[in-house]
Amino acid sequence: MPGFHKLTLSERVEKLKDLANLSDDDVRLLLKEGTLPLEIADKMIENVVGTLSLPLGIATNFLINGKEYLIPMAIEEPSVVAAASNAARMLREGGGIKAQATESLMIAQIQLVGVAAPHSVKYLIYERKEEIKEIANATNPLLISLGGGVRDVEVYVIESPAGPMVITNLIVDVKDAMGANTVNTMAEKVAPHIEKWTGGKVYLRIVSNLADRRLVRAWGKVPKDVLGGEEVVDGIVYAWAFASADPYRAATHNKGIMNGVIAVALATGQDTRALEAGAHAYAARSGKYTSLSVWEKDENGDLVGFLEMPMAVGLIGGAVKVNPIAQLSLKILGVKTAKELAEIMGAVGLAQNLAALRALATEGIQKGHMKLHARNIAITAGARGSEIDIVVQEMIKREAIRLDVAKEILESIRRKK
Ligand code: MEV
Repeated sequence: MPGFHKLTLSERVEKLKDLANLSDDDVRLLLKEGTLPLEIADKMIENVVGTLSLPLGIATNFLINGKEYLIPMAIEEPSVVAAASNAARMLREGGGIKAQATESLMIAQIQLVGVAAPHSVKYLIYERKEEIKEIANATNPLLISLGGGVRDVEVYVIESPAGPMVITNLIVDVKDAMGANTVNTMAEKVAPHIEKWTGGKVYLRIVSNLADRRLVRAWGKVPKDVLGGEEVVDGIVYAWAFASADPYRAATHNKGIMNGVIAVALATGQDTRALEAGAHAYAARSGKYTSLSVWEKDENGDLVGFLEMPMAVGLIGGAVKVNPIAQLSLKILGVKTAKELAEIMGAVGLAQNLAALRALATEGIQKGHMKLHARNIAITAGARGSEIDIVVQEMIKREAIRLDVAKEILESIRRKK
């Protein structure tokens, strides 16, 4: 469809209406203003025809590094916000969550091919290290004035299916930015010099989402009685050990962590795909995919948990500044630096993981889940106001949480009315 991107938003919607047989109601839905104004959305990506809303909830009870936080979470999945709040309450009984983020070090990669003696070239690039730093830093005087910039340059040779390659990694302190744009610009500026010095050919110049120099560590304790006794502590440790040893379980275990991390990321306008990519690549760094967290029983029989993962988040750039809700979420959090945001997100990941493991090791995940799921089903069936709770209770009583059942119950209560 040539020219589609040149149309105004409403023209695009009109065209889409024809092409996809949309109704007038569909068009109205697309053009409905939400918290992200259409005018802004239209500038953020291409071919915009509307915006998408998600529930924004507040997780409570979080005490992180001795400070109280209200945590905005944007997510479609029931139970996540409740579970995070509940786990935060339990971790609070053990003194609250501690979290530490490293410096904001991002990595940009420059891929060089077509050199006859790759190891000689590697050292040739090392000889230019200071020059590389200067070239890269010159692209961003503001970052340098804030104390950021290239911290190190690392060069290595890889044997690839397409032959040897010399990879130059720029390690850059990006301060309060997520940093992908910052380091991509640097890599693109440095690349022609590497070609000139080595006679090779550079192809890729791009950030690495395995942000393993930009980690967050979060940890906390829950007294055994708060969890329901030492047996529950043992169950949680067994649950972790399962994830530690089995990638099939580790994927789900880490998904639970990401339920929390990504919900805060969405609320605060972060690049969620970069966070997912970084987390899972980090979980596989030993060559075997494993758990991002560790849970153990201490000498008193209490539960202690630790989480370590990359956390490339920023307060400037990307959607953070343009999405009003992202700004509002940051205001609710009261964060002033990307480091603090990373620490909060690590803490939420830890709490979310705890909540899931506790539920799994005890009553199972479905009980709490199904109750909330039942609400969605009841609403989908058309229940409104006080009808919702009645339909939910009846479905739970019948142990049948299904749309057809919800509709039937709804009809019967409306008939009685
Ligand atoms: C569901 O969204 C997340 C869990 O599956 C996480 C886990 O199994 O640890 C409950």
